[in-house]
Amino acid sequence: APKAIIAPSILSADFADLGAACSRTIEQGADWLHVDIMDGHFVPNLTFGPPVVAKIRTHVDRPTEAHGKGTFDCHMMIAEPKKWVKEFKAAGCDLYCFHYEAAVDSTAAESPEAKSDRKTSPRELIRFIHDQGMLAGIAVKPATPVDVLYDVIEAEDKAERPDMVLVMTVEPGFGGQKFMASELPKVQELRKRYPELNIEVDGGLGPGTIDQAADAGANVIVAGSSVFGAKDPAGVIALLREAVEK
Ligand code: DX5
Ligand code: ZN
Repeated sequence: APKAIIAPSILSADFADLGAACSRTIEQGADWLHVDIMDGHFVPNLTFGPPVVAKIRTHVDRPTEAHGKGTFDCHMMIAEPKKWVKEFKAAGCDLYCFHYEAAVDSTAAESPEAKSDRKTSPRELIRFIHDQGMLAGIAVKPATPVDVLYDVIEAEDKAERPDMVLVMTVEPGFGGQKFMASELPKVQELRKRYPELNIEVDGGLGPGTIDQAADAGANVIVAGSSVFGAKDPAGVIALLREAVEK
């Protein structure tokens, strides 16, 4: 499996002190920062947009290589992922991870023209993200089976293949929710089919749940409340890494 990547979710950081929280978390051993972008439509919550991302970017050195330390892993819980690609690139996003559910037509009542204007296929969107110079990720909510992703993961043209798949282990929208072990068979299936794929898990991960996720084959670990709520965040980050590497 690919190397362990620990990506604390800054959704659980002190928003009034975000820049310092980000640089401290990198010093404490984090590889990436997981930046949760919510639009109040795709999920019932709001977080922050490009101006905030651009500000925190000045507190964290840019990664010097793809997947390197300091990568801003932007988890786009937004209804119109195509619309924001350029803005987030300009703000300092390195990996743009959109939701599969937002990139396929779910609005049957709309006219075909309106749809094609707003929506795009996962492959086209991945190509567009790559064209802008970012890594591309594709995420699935708990209700979405993982086999819908095989086509895109196996796209003939590498420019249309994702660099990472995110399997949600909670319903997206809020930090601090209970881990859903019911989602782990998706991770197992992906790992079995794709030994080299970066597989990220997000939601409810911490010392008590990391072993199951690591055993299933996840290598990119998002952790919000378990890192930012800890007395010893560096210790939790190290523990998560050891569980994936063992
Ligand atoms: C939830 C977000 C997560 C969240 C995880 O919608 O995608 O990234 O911050 O928080 P914890 O680790 O507390 O479950
Ligand atoms: Zn997230």
